Amino acid sequence: MKLVEQLNWRYATKAFNTQKKVSERDIDYLKEAIRLSASSYGLQLYKVLLVEDKATREALRPLCWNQSQITDASHLFVFCHKVEALDQGVDEYLALQSELREVEVQKLKGYGDFIKSKLSEINDEQKSQWTSKQTYIAAANLMVACAELEIDSCPIEGFEVEKVNALLGLDKQGYSASMLIPVGYRSAEDKTQHLVKVRRSNTQLFETI
Ligand SMILES: Cc1cc2nc3c(=O)[nH]c(=O)nc-3n(C[C@H](O)[C@H](O)[C@H](O)COP(=O)(O)O)c2cc1C
Repeated sequence: MKLVEQLNWRYATKAFNTQKKVSERDIDYLKEAIRLSASSYGLQLYKVLLVEDKATREALRPLCWNQSQITDASHLFVFCHKVEALDQGVDEYLALQSELREVEVQKLKGYGDFIKSKLSEINDEQKSQWTSKQTYIAAANLMVACAELEIDSCPIEGFEVEKVNALLGLDKQGYSASMLIPVGYRSAEDKTQHLVKVRRSNTQLFETI
């Protein structure tokens, strides 16, 4: 019940209060919600940048359709999916699982080979789409965790991918930005907060077969 109440509370915040900062304690909680996200095979083939540098945020804004949230929110998360060396990512995951579950890595080889053989069946574009999808699950968890703490957020896909990748040096690291999520507190002046939610009805959205 409480979750649905909070999902009604949240909205894609257009104007943030530039003076109000999210506490480091709350940021740690939000990071944990991201970290615990489910991902395909558990691989987490992405990373999340927290852009604190003011100059970088100012440089990002024109590349993000000049959306004010990029500079005005308290914190800015950038979800970046892996686009290269996915097999290496699989090996890193197996090494981590071996360490945390105290299983010999050799025993996990069959699982790793299965994942790698599945990956070899798809092209680079499909691989990129697949890793990018994983970031949306983490991004949704971030937004839900924000709503729980009554921290505002706005998912942002309106940006020039190549330019953002170049600015953040992601292209050189084998990553690509999929979504930006500024978080903070809404401005009292943001009229969007008073708008009625536009959602399809249950009959339009759900079908029982
Ligand atoms: C993948 C994705 C991309 C979005 N990109 C933007 C964006 O660039 N700028 C923006 O202001 N809102 C963006 N939104 C917010 C949506 O417009 C918003 O979630 C939708 O209209 C529903 O409104 P609500 O979230 O306020 O309930 C995006 C949402 C999603 C899920």
